[in-house]
Amino acid sequence: MTKKVLVLPGDGIGPEIVGEAVKLLKALQAQGAIAVELEHGLVGGAAYDVFGDPLPAQTLEAARAADAVLLGAVGGPKWEPLHISKRPEKGLLGLRAGLGLFANLRPAILYPQLAGASSLKPEVVSGLDIMIVRELTGDIYFGQPRGVETLASGERRGVNTMVYTESEIERICRVAFDLARKRDRRVCSVDKANVLECTELWREVATRVGADYPDVALSHMYVDNAAMQLVRAPKQFDVMVTGNLFGDILSDCASMLTGSIGMLPSASLNAAGQGMYEPIHGSAPDIAGQGVANPLATLLSVAMMLRYSLGAPEAAQRIEAAVSTVLDQGLRTPDILSAGMRRVGTVEMGDAVVAALPA
Ligand code: IPM
Ligand code: MG
Repeated sequence: MTKKVLVLPGDGIGPEIVGEAVKLLKALQAQGAIAVELEHGLVGGAAYDVFGDPLPAQTLEAARAADAVLLGAVGGPKWEPLHISKRPEKGLLGLRAGLGLFANLRPAILYPQLAGASSLKPEVVSGLDIMIVRELTGDIYFGQPRGVETLASGERRGVNTMVYTESEIERICRVAFDLARKRDRRVCSVDKANVLECTELWREVATRVGADYPDVALSHMYVDNAAMQLVRAPKQFDVMVTGNLFGDILSDCASMLTGSIGMLPSASLNAAGQGMYEPIHGSAPDIAGQGVANPLATLLSVAMMLRYSLGAPEAAQRIEAAVSTVLDQGLRTPDILSAGMRRVGTVEMGDAVVAALPA
């Protein structure tokens, strides 16, 4: 059956990297490996410029009707002066909330060919394979009250609220434990239970859920220590599960272990298995339009989409194999360039991956 994919290029380098993803999807289609119908839409600053809204109603509707959403990135200096409610980031957050995409999977895998590109020593990162499971629709990102108020004294006060219900914690923990069962059966739950009541509850619920998974080893870590351990000895981790804010920060941190943030894909899933897929790196306005952005995180996000939402795990493997092949060939975008490798741009990298697809 033909699956519907909504393509949302967004801002900055978004259109460039998503262009390569579309090319890849079409190539897989031509191979007979998948059957997809692509629809395009606007989100973020690109949508604001046309509709005055970073998430127009028709985009959200099209996303709801699709089997999967492929997103590039949103944001850029052009839209920074806007009120926070109109900024491109609101488009992304609105999609996450509107589709109920509570489970964000961010795998940090080191391709052996890139061991030298990591800012950490090769022996610290070689063989790295971490799955960060970030809760995506709760926490301080969405908690009320929020805003900036003016006190009687005339001074202003900014407020955001960290909040989690037991059921929200439970469902994301179950995702983490279920994933761990397909991996090394270890879950590290990350919190700040020594200071924040909200995450004290998180730890309690994680422990309770863990009792249903006696075959999975559960550990707990404070977020400050987790950040330190990620750069000290990252291979100690298998699955990490954490809240929205901590997961945002730790996944950027983990990305550098793999050589470049340009390598990290992500999947955001709801309870129905519908998903949105995007590279974790953002819109990179500093290099937008130059044709130098690394498309691999987006191409690997397509692989996650095929695996988690489109029921095509074999096609996903083809993409992952092709990425490995182009790295073997020595092709590198500037962010992962090292001595002796061949520097290529976005399109050349995308073409190489398509050419390397196993038949
Ligand atoms: C991410 C990004 C987003 C987030 C921004 C663009 C709103 O940093 O996906 O990690 O904070 O979640
Ligand atoms: Mg982030």
